[in-house]
Amino acid sequence: MKILVTGGLGFIGSHTVVELLQQNFEVVIIDNCSNSSEDVLDGIKAITGKSPIFEKIDLREKEAVAEFFRKYNDIEGVIHFAASKAVGESVDKPLLYYENNLNTLIYLLQQLSSKESASFIFSSSCTVYGQADKMPITENAPVKQAESPYGNTKQIGEEIIGDTCKVNPQIKAISLRYFNPMGAHASTEIGELPIGVPQNLVPFITQTGIGLREELSVFGDDYSTPDGTCIRDYIHVVDLAKAHVVALERLLKNKNEENYEVFNVGTGKGNSVLEVIGSFERVSGKKLNYRIVGRRAGDVVVAYADTSKAETILGWKADSTLDEAMKSAWDWECKIRNEAQ
Ligand code: WQD
Repeated sequence: MKILVTGGLGFIGSHTVVELLQQNFEVVIIDNCSNSSEDVLDGIKAITGKSPIFEKIDLREKEAVAEFFRKYNDIEGVIHFAASKAVGESVDKPLLYYENNLNTLIYLLQQLSSKESASFIFSSSCTVYGQADKMPITENAPVKQAESPYGNTKQIGEEIIGDTCKVNPQIKAISLRYFNPMGAHASTEIGELPIGVPQNLVPFITQTGIGLREELSVFGDDYSTPDGTCIRDYIHVVDLAKAHVVALERLLKNKNEENYEVFNVGTGKGNSVLEVIGSFERVSGKKLNYRIVGRRAGDVVVAYADTSKAETILGWKADSTLDEAMKSAWDWECKIRNEAQ
């Protein structure tokens, strides 16, 4: 039995491949390396001693996807990470996002529809909630008008999966709605590799801490929160990776109650931007250079997960603290910058 991991050389994908290999799954990775590198395979091997099959394929090529499933006709499960994920870029390049995030999903589901049975895990996002009315956010919170084409592709993606499962009972699917992934594997063999200027908070903090960036801009401190900065649910990427393995096992063992389910994946705790900066300063022993600037368009004020559904139904719970996750992010930053010197 093989498990296909699309985007398996990416940040969350590579950490999930490590967890799958350590649970003795046979993994096949598809990645087009547009936002990752084949060198990540070395890190995966360094941690697990294993070399998963790697196929450099662009999932936008419909025939290439069909050829892949002809070649690997024993794929039992798919974890689908491959997608573009920069919120700001999606506003400038909507068609690139709709093509890359939706056509690829459709081609994968078309292949699974012709199999006798298939398990499918979709990389979704808390973005689908927009600014939720109540905290913590449950899976029943209304899906709101997306703030960006990126967020819209996650909403539409979930609808495509739901509609497909309705008429394909042999497909069992779970959407995992991530909150804010951060950190790196404790080995520092794999981690986040943002290309260019990081859009996300944590890599910008660690790059500022290591001296790659002059200073962090904090996007607004006049929000209706205790310290005025936005609140998010920051989850260690290894905890997030483990949630994928648990969700996949639920489907492979036919433990799912419906053939399409949705779970929030976060820590259940919210931290402000200033608290995340404080975490960096504690774990690194360094003072972070930052400046308060104007708000960033599209930011929601507060978002953190109600994780009780994943805890009770999946039996999964994040167990890393913010400082543990930040320490892993900082250790990774130090490792890759020292190697670069
Ligand atoms: C977090 C907080 C910023 C950078 C996005 C996507 C989500 C997922 C994760 C892909 C906010 C503040 C940030 C900076 C700052 N992406 N910030 N200075 O926007 O919550 O979520 O990334 O899966 O789908 O929506 O994450 O890390 O960009 O921002 O002050 O240089 O940090 O304003 O309050 P976000 P983020």
